[in-house]
Amino acid sequence: MRKLYVWDPLVRLFHWALVAGLVLNMFVTDPGKTAHRWLGYGVLLLIGLRLIWGLVGPRFARFRSFPPDPVAALGHATEIATGRVHVHEGHSPLGALMVYNLLASCVIIGLTGWMLTTLTWFGVEWVEDLHKAFVTWVQLSAVLHIAAVIFESRRLRVNLPKSMVTGYKWLP
Ligand code: HEM
Ligand code: HEM
Repeated sequence: MRKLYVWDPLVRLFHWALVAGLVLNMFVTDPGKTAHRWLGYGVLLLIGLRLIWGLVGPRFARFRSFPPDPVAALGHATEIATGRVHVHEGHSPLGALMVYNLLASCVIIGLTGWMLTTLTWFGVEWVEDLHKAFVTWVQLSAVLHIAAVIFESRRLRVNLPKSMVTGYKWLP
């Protein structure tokens, strides 16, 4: 087994703060109230920092190290289908697609949320619907994301959730 440092403190802090912010805004704060708004802006700020970090951060945090690549994702799906054990050092190709989906969807939730506070879009139904639809989409995506993390952890015998806490991945 080889121990590799993959997730730097900013990526880990970003991950768990994003989870906390989303869960609080989905299930705890009053929709549209002050706490909900500021928490939503907090999520946008986190994503803004992560985008900068994706350009200037260390190797595994950089977007260049996990581009959205459908061909590689198909290759990853083939590995799963054929039972090939290949532990990816940073984000796996399928994982990378999920990362971009989650980031983009959270930005849309934040933007539509902000729009609902403006004179122009206040009470406009399609903006409200979009805000709600993307919340549902992120919920479905998060369930799939967590299921995939558990599935791949078992299949590859690598504790992926632990790596998002300690920063280290154990590779066979
Ligand atoms: C990014 C994280 C956010 C999440 C997870 C989130 C989630 C939600 C949820 C679950 C609702 C209730 C929808 C329903 O009634 O079924 C809601 C409503 C609302 N949110 Fe957000 N929100 C976020 C960000 C924001 C931001 C940044 C703002 C504004 C600055 C905002 C403003 C509103 C408003 C005004 C409503 C009420 C819409 C309505 O009339 O139903 N949200 N949000
Ligand atoms: C609302 C729920 C969640 C959201 C929105 C979410 C979002 C994300 C995002 C955006 C990343 C990319 C991190 C980066 O490169 O900056 C990521 C990666 C990751 N997340 Fe989550 N996450 C959620 C819940 C969880 C939970 C509950 C776990 C643990 C069981 C988890 C485990 C991981 C792991 C292990 C990675 C790295 C995957 C890899 O090895 O490629 N996530 N998640």
